[in-house]
Amino acid sequence: MNKALRKAVIAGNWKMNNTPAQTKALIEELAPLVADADCGVVVCVPFIDLHAALEATKGTNIKVGAENCHWAASGAFTGEVSAPMLKEIGVEYVVIGHSERRQYFGETDETVKARTRAALDNGLLPIVCVGEVLEQREAGITEQVVTSQTTKALEGVTAEELKKIIIAYEPVWAIGTGKTATDEQANEVCAIIRSLVEELYSKADADALTIQYGGSMNDANADGLLAQSDVDGGLIGGASLVASKFAAIVKAASK
Ligand code: PGA
Repeated sequence: MNKALRKAVIAGNWKMNNTPAQTKALIEELAPLVADADCGVVVCVPFIDLHAALEATKGTNIKVGAENCHWAASGAFTGEVSAPMLKEIGVEYVVIGHSERRQYFGETDETVKARTRAALDNGLLPIVCVGEVLEQREAGITEQVVTSQTTKALEGVTAEELKKIIIAYEPVWAIGTGKTATDEQANEVCAIIRSLVEELYSKADADALTIQYGGSMNDANADGLLAQSDVDGGLIGGASLVASKFAAIVKAASK
């Protein structure tokens, strides 16, 4: 990656794992291991764990994110959590449009766009996820899929707001499967996203955008993936639940 132009961010996506007590314990184990990181370090945790995470990360370089937020500020949306609620308690990041939300909870490009808007309007930093499923890769339409998801998510986003966004390229076939994209496959699609952003905004905006790779990134493959010119960090699922593995990825991004 080009460190002169942009900063790497390693974000853990805990998914539906860890209770508040486990959250405290994992962050206390992780904090000393990543204290000298030369990249952004974020843990995105379940809503119920946010307080424990915010408490445990006080005085550390670890930032806290949520895994979703609703598009409305308040209202009759039983079971949902809004961006102003997250902002008020001190959350900084929010994952939007993760493939599991698209797959299991009816998330669409339209709702991803609405949630991204809500996050930006409330001063949260969105990590917007895009990526193709296996059949789309096999049909040779990865570029089309990722281009259309990214374009839709960025609709109405100004150049100033783009500076607050991270895009995470996560090929769905590589998530939780142990099948990582090769270094070249990851870089190729991250570069496609960067060219698209250059077309939609400008070269300077594209150069400054942090684009993460996600999908079975771990302590063993992080070095190769993060050495790619257009891969600016990672969104880490399974390996973010083990302090030593997550810390090793942070170390790889700090090189
Ligand atoms: P994984 O998950 O690292 O377990 O593949 C990545 C993600 O879903 O963000």
